[in-house]
Amino acid sequence: MRRIALLGATGSIGKQAIAVVDAAPDLELCALASGSSDLGKLAESHGVEHVQTGGDLTELLERAEPDVVLNAVVGFAGIGATLWALERGITLALANKESLVAAGDLALAARERGGGLLLPVDSEHSAVFQCLERSARESVESIVLTASGGPFRGRSREELADVTVEDALAHPTWNMGPKITVDSATLANKGLELIEAHVLFGLHYDRLEVVVQPSSIVHGLVRFRDGAALAHLGYPDMQVPISWALTYPARAATDLPQLDLASGLTLEFAAPDLETFPLLALARRAGELGGTHPCVYNAANETAVAAFLEGRLPFLGIADVVEAALDGADGAPARDLDELVEADAEARRLAEQGMPVA
Ligand SMILES: NC(=O)c1ccc[n+]([C@@H]2O[C@H](COP(=O)([O-])OP(=O)(O)OC[C@H]3O[C@@H](n4cnc5c(N)ncnc54)[C@H](OP(=O)(O)O)[C@@H]3O)[C@@H](O)[C@H]2O)c1
Repeated sequence: MRRIALLGATGSIGKQAIAVVDAAPDLELCALASGSSDLGKLAESHGVEHVQTGGDLTELLERAEPDVVLNAVVGFAGIGATLWALERGITLALANKESLVAAGDLALAARERGGGLLLPVDSEHSAVFQCLERSARESVESIVLTASGGPFRGRSREELADVTVEDALAHPTWNMGPKITVDSATLANKGLELIEAHVLFGLHYDRLEVVVQPSSIVHGLVRFRDGAALAHLGYPDMQVPISWALTYPARAATDLPQLDLASGLTLEFAAPDLETFPLLALARRAGELGGTHPCVYNAANETAVAAFLEGRLPFLGIADVVEAALDGADGAPARDLDELVEADAEARRLAEQGMPVA
């Protein structure tokens, strides 16, 4: 029996993870965490002893002693759990991309010391991980992350000036939590994923591509030096990468539908519109600069998205706030978690300063 600590149990990924665990006889939940939602009923119905709402997630993990940590917390709040699992060599199934973006160097060092598995749950990185398996590193030419393009694909900047929170939350292919849905609309999600891919797969940014694939059927590709490209396809359903990570390397059976190819499935691809959606290029810049610039990008984006959701910032203001924070931060590398937390806090201050006065 594999014992899973599910952090972010009440969220979009968390609920889908519970469905995966319920359907898999070899998996059981040993711990549940949320930010503020009550977990009483869920813990009771699943017989989970270790439960925590808010607070330091590593205390819960110490008590529960899981075999796998599924980190599905949203935002920088997931960082302690990511580092805890990596440091101890406990398998980390990672949905919380923000922790890897903000703490890439610390996470890689912790994984080196811990020696455990870091399995991406993000569908694109799960796809790329699977395409890369059993391939020699030097045979890889580049990695391609696919993007749906979000609800505003094809629109001009002018057309985005007055979009509402409701418009931004209407994602065409994925049903996700509010923060990542707004990130998908601005393409910051793909920016975070670009940095996540750099950390996970160790390729330089000039070998990481992003391409728009509106139906979200192709989740990721790897190009090889012999001219071949391997792709990972499937209907957009997060239960697939969640199940893959929780049952790795077994690839357990699911009830999810197989691709219906004969019904006339067509796949379209296009270049992303970097001018209308500047947060993708800003992420590349932050990643290439290195140090704590990715942490600043993430912190400023979290702050700006929260302000947008609260109605304090227009949609186009999100990128302006992130750019101003990146310009204002020194981006010096963090030697430990304390320094990273400081860089994160400073970036949030810079982001608040960049907000329009009400
Ligand atoms: N949704 C997707 O399809 C998808 C796909 C790929 C990657 N991801 C990534 O997965 C993560 C979760 O996304 P989501 O869409 O599931 O978000 P979500 O629906 O907003 O859920 C977030 C979860 O995190 C919990 N949480 C928030 N702050 C916390 C804290 N300080 N301590 C413990 N738990 C906390 C929330 O608890 P409360 O209910 O108490 O607020 C909730 O359970 C994000 O990093 C996202 O980028 C999501």
